[in-house]
Amino acid sequence: MAEHTSDLVVRGTPFWFTADPFLVDTPMASVEDGAVWCRAGHIVAVGAWAELRDRLPDSATVQHYPGRLISAGFVDGHTHYPQFDVVASLADDLPGWLDRHAYPAEQRCGDPQYARAAAESFCDELLRNGTTTALTFCTSAQDSVDALFAAAMKRNMRMVAGKVLMDRAGPASLLDTAERGYRESAALLRRWHGRGRNGYAITPRFAPGCTAAQLDAAGALWREHPGALLHSHIAETEDELAQVRELFPDRADYLDVYEHSGLTGPGAVFAHGVHLTEAELLRCARSGTALVHCPSSNLFLGGGLFDLYQATSRARPVTVGLGTDVAAGPTFSLLRGMRDASHVARLRGHTLDGVRGFYLATLGSATALGLADRIGSLAVGNEADLVVLDPAATPMLSRRTSRAQSLPDVLFALAVLGDDRTVEATYVAGERRYCRADSMDTAGGVAVTHDHAPSRGCPGLRPDTGTGPVEQ
Ligand code: GUN
Ligand code: ZN
Repeated sequence: MAEHTSDLVVRGTPFWFTADPFLVDTPMASVEDGAVWCRAGHIVAVGAWAELRDRLPDSATVQHYPGRLISAGFVDGHTHYPQFDVVASLADDLPGWLDRHAYPAEQRCGDPQYARAAAESFCDELLRNGTTTALTFCTSAQDSVDALFAAAMKRNMRMVAGKVLMDRAGPASLLDTAERGYRESAALLRRWHGRGRNGYAITPRFAPGCTAAQLDAAGALWREHPGALLHSHIAETEDELAQVRELFPDRADYLDVYEHSGLTGPGAVFAHGVHLTEAELLRCARSGTALVHCPSSNLFLGGGLFDLYQATSRARPVTVGLGTDVAAGPTFSLLRGMRDASHVARLRGHTLDGVRGFYLATLGSATALGLADRIGSLAVGNEADLVVLDPAATPMLSRRTSRAQSLPDVLFALAVLGDDRTVEATYVAGERRYCRADSMDTAGGVAVTHDHAPSRGCPGLRPDTGTGPVEQ
C-alpha cells in the first residue's frame, strides 16, 4: 500500500502560513502546481512539482490531486468528545443545555465500553472533517481519557486532552473533589503526556463548576508539569459572569479567578472569552494566555458575539485559535467554523476574509496550543498532517470557484460554502487516514482506498490534468 512506502508526495496546490495575518500583511505561501514531500511522518520538502520531481527516489509514491488545495490539517482548538451524541439538542441556555444534554452524555461515557466507542467515532469524524489535532475535554472519569488517547494513538493523531475537573454544580456521578481530581489528573498525565503524539491538558471545567480549592489544586499540578496545557472555559455567557461574581466576590474579574490559582500564562487555553473586558484581554496578551473562538457554539447557544478584531488588535494581540466546541457547536467542520466566524465578525462590524479564517483553523489554533513548531503549517520539518480540499466539491462551489480570480478568493468561497464534503483526503503523519470516496474501517481507523471520481477541478487553480487523484 502506498501509505507504507517511506517517501510519500502529495501533489496539488499547497498553501500555508508563515506568520499571523492579523499582524502581518502577506503571510501566506502557495505553489500552484506544487507538492508536499513526506518521509517518516514529517515534511521534508514543499515546492514546485517541476523542481521536486527530479529529486524523488524511484520508490516514492505520488498521490496527485489536480485542482485541489493542500493545507496543513485543521486544528480544533476546543471541543468535547463525550458530547458527540447530543449535537443539535435544544435548550434555552447554557445551564439548561448542560443539565439536559451535556451532563447526561458525559454520564453515559462513565461506561468504559461506551467511552471507547465514542472516542473511536470522534476521531473518525475529526478526520472526515480534515481535523488532524484537537484540544478536547473528556469527562471526569479516568477511563474516558484512556479511551480517547488510545483511539488517537491507533490513528497516530496528535491529540491534547484531559480529565474534567468539576467538584460542584453538576450531577453527583460527574463530581470529583479537589484532592481526587488532582490525584487522578496527575496519574493520567504521567500515563499519557508525551506518549505517541498525545499531550495532556489539565482541564478544570470552568469557574462555576470548580471550588477555589479545586482551581488551586489544578494550579499546583500545572506548576509541577509545566509542559502540559491548561484548558478551560471563560466568559461564554453574561449569566456566567454574574455567577462568577457571586461565587468569587474577592476576585476583580473572571480572569482574575484563574490568575489567582496560577492558571494563566503560556500553555493556558480558554474557550470563548466572548465577554472579557479590555483589561482582561490586555492581561491575556501580556501573560501569553490564549483564547479559542468558538463561533458555531456561541451562535447555537446564543452566548454572544466574540470580537475577534478587538482580541487580536495589533496594539496588544491575544493569541486566538478556532474551535468547534462540539456539542454546543453543532458541527465538527472548521470550514463551517470559519463561516460562522465570518458572520460573527460581520455583526461586530468587521469582515473576516478566507486567509484569516484558514489561519485561525491551522496555525492560529496550533499557536494557541503551543504546537506551532510541529503542526499548523507546511513548514519543512513539521509533522505531515495535511488536508486536501476540493474547491469544486459541490455544484455551487464549482460554479463559484470557477470564476475565482485568486487563491484568497477561492479560500473565502471555501470558508463560506465549505463543509465535510469539501474534504477530499486527510493525512496524519504522512499517511492517508481518510479519503472522501472511501469507506472507513472504523475498527482500525484506516481508510481503504478506491479510485476517485474525476474532479471538475478549479479553473482558478489551473489543474494540469482533468483526472485525479492519481497515484504515479
Ligand atoms: N461551560 C462549562 N462546561 C461547558 C460545556 O460543556 N460546553 C460549553 N459550551 N460551555 C461549558
Ligand atoms: Zn466547551
